Amino acid sequence: MSKGKVLLVLYTGGEHAKQESRLLGTIENELGIRKYIEDQGYELVTTAEKDPEPSSQVDKELADAEIVITTPFFPAYITKTRLEKAPKLKIAITAGVGSDHVDLNAANDHGITVVEVTGSNVVSVAEHVLMTILVLIRNFVPAHEQAVGLSWDIAGAAKQEFDLEDKVIATVGAGRIGYRVLERLVAFNPKKLLYYDYQDLPASAIQKLNDASKLFNGHDNIVERVLNLEELVGQADVVTINCPLHEDTKGLFNKSLLSKMKKGAYLVNTARGAICVEQDVADAVNSGHLAGYGGDVWYPQPAPKDHPWRSMKNPYGGGNAMTPHVSGTSLDAQARYAAGVKKILESYFSGKHDYKPEDVIVTGGGYATRAYGERDQK
Ligand code: NAI
Repeated sequence: MSKGKVLLVLYTGGEHAKQESRLLGTIENELGIRKYIEDQGYELVTTAEKDPEPSSQVDKELADAEIVITTPFFPAYITKTRLEKAPKLKIAITAGVGSDHVDLNAANDHGITVVEVTGSNVVSVAEHVLMTILVLIRNFVPAHEQAVGLSWDIAGAAKQEFDLEDKVIATVGAGRIGYRVLERLVAFNPKKLLYYDYQDLPASAIQKLNDASKLFNGHDNIVERVLNLEELVGQADVVTINCPLHEDTKGLFNKSLLSKMKKGAYLVNTARGAICVEQDVADAVNSGHLAGYGGDVWYPQPAPKDHPWRSMKNPYGGGNAMTPHVSGTSLDAQARYAAGVKKILESYFSGKHDYKPEDVIVTGGGYATRAYGERDQK
């Protein structure tokens, strides 16, 4: 007789998981925690069958689970209705960063704790953001398509190829990822680095970027906080989205805000797909108002085959730098979030519930973080 059930929802690794044991985020390798969980007297059920609600394996298993572990990469959406049918559920753990796939308000209503492995993949994402910016601005994809397609049309690729140097780059959200993106951008000698966030960056963090810019590029005071989002996007050659998905950011980048972006600007979103209105973004790229859009987050995930971000292209045939949701799940990141999940479980099973404060998203019926909306200021 087990003490309780742990439900683990991961993506399928198949052959890849056999080839690469470090693919911990797969149903085959189970974050490396099966033995640990069973040693605690708990039953572990692992599945990739998360859709559709309400007839999936997740629905069936959640009904008597005490702990659910999910990832943002292949999210089991822990909706209000699923939570209502999970009377034994105490804690939802996100193997990664970003717990918007759990209905956080409903989790509060049911007194369920939601924790994630804060910081576990922020470097992985920041690197992906830099890559995506470069892939877009250097017009890499059309040039690469020529290389493997046996053609050689330099003008065709160069007619929309620019340098990142001397451009204005803006981040919406300047938390762990947003700040790391700014740090990495200094090396490219930008004209300005702008940020929009209701939480100010510490003065020392801004100083660090300005000092580095002065030292490497001879340019001082490159970092600026902009309090108005439309003003921010109107000034930027590249905008990168690095804030969580919550009530105030859902659909934030819609037709109206996109129309305020500079013609020919680029938008990079590795935060969450639903922060952008999918058709509005596709229209902006297809029409050439945006020179390109890239990122790895979609809604829903997996993205349907006819999702407009799969096929959108700017009028020159480039401007699409989409990937599946891979940025935060490099093998290095998988090792970190697997270890972080184990730490959270240790804290849960010990009965102390002494999680790292920065890992806790909601607990005891309320939000423990300021990142998911300005709730305490409203
Ligand atoms: P963080 O909590 O360190 O920073 C988030 C920042 O966004 C905070 O400074 C917060 O004040 C700000 N913010 C919240 N609402 C805002 C709004 N309306 N406007 C402007 N700023 C706002 O979080 P972190 O680690 O930087 O991650 C950010 C997000 O990135 C996650 O919530 C997740 O959605 C996404 N992410 C994506 C990954 C991927 O694999 N693509 C992996 C990890 C995170």
